[in-house]
Amino acid sequence: MLNIDIAGLQASAEKEISEVITSVALEEIRVKYLGKKSVISEALSSLKNLSSEDRPLVGKLANEFKNNITALIEAKKNELEKGVETQPLDISLPGVKMDMGCIHPVTIVMREICDCFVKMGFCVVEGPEIETEDNNFTGLNIPLDHPSREAFDTFYLKSEVQSSKPTEKLLLRSHTSPMQVRVMKENKPPLAVIVPGRVYRPDAVDASHLFMFHQVEGFLVDKNVRFSDLKGVLAQVSKELFGSDIKMRFRPHFFPFTEPSVEVDVSCIMCKGKGCSVCGHKGWLEILGAGMVNPAVFKHVGYAPGEFTGFAFGMGVERIAMLKYRINDIRLFFENDIRFLKQF
Ligand code: PHE
Repeated sequence: MLNIDIAGLQASAEKEISEVITSVALEEIRVKYLGKKSVISEALSSLKNLSSEDRPLVGKLANEFKNNITALIEAKKNELEKGVETQPLDISLPGVKMDMGCIHPVTIVMREICDCFVKMGFCVVEGPEIETEDNNFTGLNIPLDHPSREAFDTFYLKSEVQSSKPTEKLLLRSHTSPMQVRVMKENKPPLAVIVPGRVYRPDAVDASHLFMFHQVEGFLVDKNVRFSDLKGVLAQVSKELFGSDIKMRFRPHFFPFTEPSVEVDVSCIMCKGKGCSVCGHKGWLEILGAGMVNPAVFKHVGYAPGEFTGFAFGMGVERIAMLKYRINDIRLFFENDIRFLKQF
């Protein structure tokens, strides 16, 4: 006679099945009692070793056990599948942790910049990242032989994807300034507009360069807008972005679409102007380009000569975010390492 306690097995299997609350645990029970390595499978496979009187009896008992347990498991499976309402609620179980998302640091800073201007009455508009050569260069008074038009400095689109107008070359905008042209062509002053968005340049990637980054462009056009208006607006914004003790300075510069043009520096936010490695021991950090809108741009968009004046400026968002958050490598923004992105 085979030395297994079928009644005992049956009792423990019934108890386990009645207590189980998940289908995974139920499957474990099935494997334990009916699987290939279970006591009962082994008993059935060794029937041949039994005497001819014992064989039918043990076979019958083992098969009965198999059928009983299979039926119980099936019933339990149906019960579990019917839904959670049949499962006892264990309020002591740990909950499912929901990971909170967070806002990307570039977005945070871009919104912060836009908010400063919105408070002063500017409105926010966005434009296409695929632009015409006309809007990106010609309309902005950038001459045909200007180096920024070269393929080293601008991504041109292949001719297959060119627009319906065969003479019009398309490119990925290399700055947000083409929106000056688009907005002014469609609207008459007074205009106070800011344009956040992505721009593209074929730069070799290093700690301070990427082939895609973000800019915020701004311009204000009306009758009698003066350079001092530009200074006042930018002074207010730099105080809001970097703190009230920050100084600003304007250095003469050149942009084809503004005249006069300036580059604007703020006193180094790390050393407060004393000189440190971040500012290259100069005490100043360049944050944006700006100037008075060149009359050639007004002419291109169809404004009457002398009717309006205006200022325009453009700033790099990653650069400002790097200064604000003391980040020393621009690539960190786009590597999507959650440990980095969670810090802001
Ligand atoms: N478009 C310029 C750049 O990308 C910035 C700028 C904008 C300068 C508006 C003057 C006026 O460098």
